[in-house]
Amino acid sequence: MNIEKPWSGRFTAPTDAFVEAFTAAVSFDQRLYEYDIMGSIAHARMLAHVDVLTNAECTQIVAGLIEIQQEIARGEFKWSVALEDVHMNIETRLTQKIGAVGKKLHTGRSRNDQVATDIRLYLRDEIDLINTELTRLLTALVDVAEREADTLMPGFTHLQSAQPITFGHHLLAWCEMLQRDKARLQDCRKRVNSMPLGAAALAGTSYPIDRHYTAKLLNFDTIAENSLDAVSDRDFAIEFTAAAAILMMHLSRFSEELVLWSSAQFNFIELSDAFCTGSSIMPQKKNPDVPELVRGKTGRVYGHLISLLTLMKSQPLAYNKDNQEDKEPLFDTIDTLKGSLHVFVDIISTVQVRHEQMRAAAQRGFMTATDLADYLVRKGVAFRDAHEIVGKAVRHCIDNSCELDTLSLEVFKNFSPLIDDDVYDILTLEGSVNARNHIGGTAPSQVRAAVQRLRAR
Ligand code: ARG
Repeated sequence: MNIEKPWSGRFTAPTDAFVEAFTAAVSFDQRLYEYDIMGSIAHARMLAHVDVLTNAECTQIVAGLIEIQQEIARGEFKWSVALEDVHMNIETRLTQKIGAVGKKLHTGRSRNDQVATDIRLYLRDEIDLINTELTRLLTALVDVAEREADTLMPGFTHLQSAQPITFGHHLLAWCEMLQRDKARLQDCRKRVNSMPLGAAALAGTSYPIDRHYTAKLLNFDTIAENSLDAVSDRDFAIEFTAAAAILMMHLSRFSEELVLWSSAQFNFIELSDAFCTGSSIMPQKKNPDVPELVRGKTGRVYGHLISLLTLMKSQPLAYNKDNQEDKEPLFDTIDTLKGSLHVFVDIISTVQVRHEQMRAAAQRGFMTATDLADYLVRKGVAFRDAHEIVGKAVRHCIDNSCELDTLSLEVFKNFSPLIDDDVYDILTLEGSVNARNHIGGTAPSQVRAAVQRLRAR
């Protein structure tokens, strides 16, 4: 470990080997290298713009940084734990390559504003990638919803058969949730896209820097207004992770439905073989591993949110080394979210729907009982009385193991003389869903209209 650390001047003894490894971040923060270099190039250009560097020095620095970027991309770069993190690894390499001029890059800057800038640049790109995956998932869902606008299925409350719905309508519920997730991420992006650079260690710098110039080069919308805040707070990462946790919660609930629906007991859908695995002992098994894993991975994202909140909670201003611990939870949140979204797009676009099974399930469990009560109300019965009458009819069906639509008109008349032949139309599944014909209702025509509105959004 004879590498000289950029901060070794005031030290007389070398760092303890264990401490060196304990404090190093390079094993994980190297994933920020492109953003670190991008930030350094912008910083060097700004320093030349304000005459702190000469144009010749700036040109040399930028050329050196670009070469380092290529070395890393080719896998030729030698990362050193002794150099602690991505920032010092790259800066040290720059000086090795271009000599003393490389030592001027860090003028008017600190690793504190540097790292805060790197994470924001990185997260901004990742939010855009996640947004693309979310849009793909929404598109896939909306397509299936349109195809299944007329498909009848049981709707549940308390996981008990409640009322008939259309499968298209059910899928559009997920679209609404994911649409809000998208909006949450876009809102978070606004606050991510603010530039800390120029805050230096904590108080700003005595050089005549032009922060707006750097921000423009890096496409930041705003610059952080307070240097202490700029280097220390990680609320933007917490906010992102909170949005990610909510999104994972939605995917987890959706996964749960896919697992239930693909069971022999429901048998509503068939997942493509590509997303399932078999059992080493039970030859008949086809396990819905992918939705199960997405459901399981939700836990780690919740954990990362709590890690980040706890990491921040008692830190005094300004930067503290604690903040180095922000990276792994954030990175894993991003990886988990992107992976889960990616795999979900494929699951949804290949799902096979068992229309007859869904319909048959909707025909069990007196699903049109509410329609019968509404029918009586239209004939002048008060809703509470109608509810009571239909409750008795249902009791009769349970005792006689039949469904409402199989009762004869004669039997119906025993429950209410107001019931006529036209009752059979409203007891059909189609009659029930078509009757819910308003914005937000389950009628197939409303599903198709909602699909159009979602596509426009
Ligand atoms: N690796 C550090 C981090 O991730 C960079 C900033 C270190 N700053 C310092 N003063 N030690 O937070």
